Amino acid sequence: MEVIIQKDAEAAAKLAAALIERALRAKPSLVLGLATGATMAPIYAHLARLHREQNLDFSLCRTFNLDEYVGIPPDDPHSFRSFMDRHLFDLVNIDKRNTHIPDGMATDFREECLHYERLIEECGGIDLQLLGIGVDGHIGFNEPLSSLLSRTREKALTPATIAQNAKYFPSPAQVPRRGITMGVGTILESRECLLVATGIEKAEIVAKAVEGPITSMVTASALQLHPRCRVIVDEAAASRLQGIEYYRWIFENEPEWTEFR
Ligand code: F6R
Repeated sequence: MEVIIQKDAEAAAKLAAALIERALRAKPSLVLGLATGATMAPIYAHLARLHREQNLDFSLCRTFNLDEYVGIPPDDPHSFRSFMDRHLFDLVNIDKRNTHIPDGMATDFREECLHYERLIEECGGIDLQLLGIGVDGHIGFNEPLSSLLSRTREKALTPATIAQNAKYFPSPAQVPRRGITMGVGTILESRECLLVATGIEKAEIVAKAVEGPITSMVTASALQLHPRCRVIVDEAAASRLQGIEYYRWIFENEPEWTEFR
């Protein structure tokens, strides 16, 4: 893992967008794995700006979102599909037929999950997977005790996740109790992972995921097994990391980061 510390959430989002931009310019038909949530919104705002102002081209890009709520139709404003349309897809020149999100209204979830895995495979696998982290350590909706070899499947959400996402619903009772999510095993097959975490409420779980033991209790810790995983954090989210000085030194001194300092 490579930990990159930025001064605040805005700088973290800008750097994440710059890394995605670099990957997309290098491979216009990039297969990009996407996430939703508060951490992702400013990253997508930067990508939309790069499209507007610097012709960042999404026309050949294919995307796969990590997850979707069960029982929420795609056109419902609370669905992850609506989130993606609002924050990214409607703001860039992506072909919506190339954007994939699990179907939370599927009649046969087992078939839907197998179909999603097949689609990823047919596209040649995910080149770059963008990830956030939940307060319970989840990536996608891979809640504690998810198998670290799991594949796309339906999953019950934990009380911590329901509480975390309640701010988007009129009341906590309306937060769906289940989701469809890529598995940890699916995520680990991406060629590159980029985890972004900001804010003090993520500090403790980021330290566990990055420096703690690999455990299904914190599914993000499985990213330690990935050969190309970067973790971008702001100062607040980095504040419980033991190796903080070393991580700062890397960003300030390694030639690879010169253009981003
Ligand atoms: C959602 C997803 C989740 C979020 C995580 C953090 O598609 O994959 O794992 O990334 O719950 O959410 P925020 O950024 O809202 O704190």
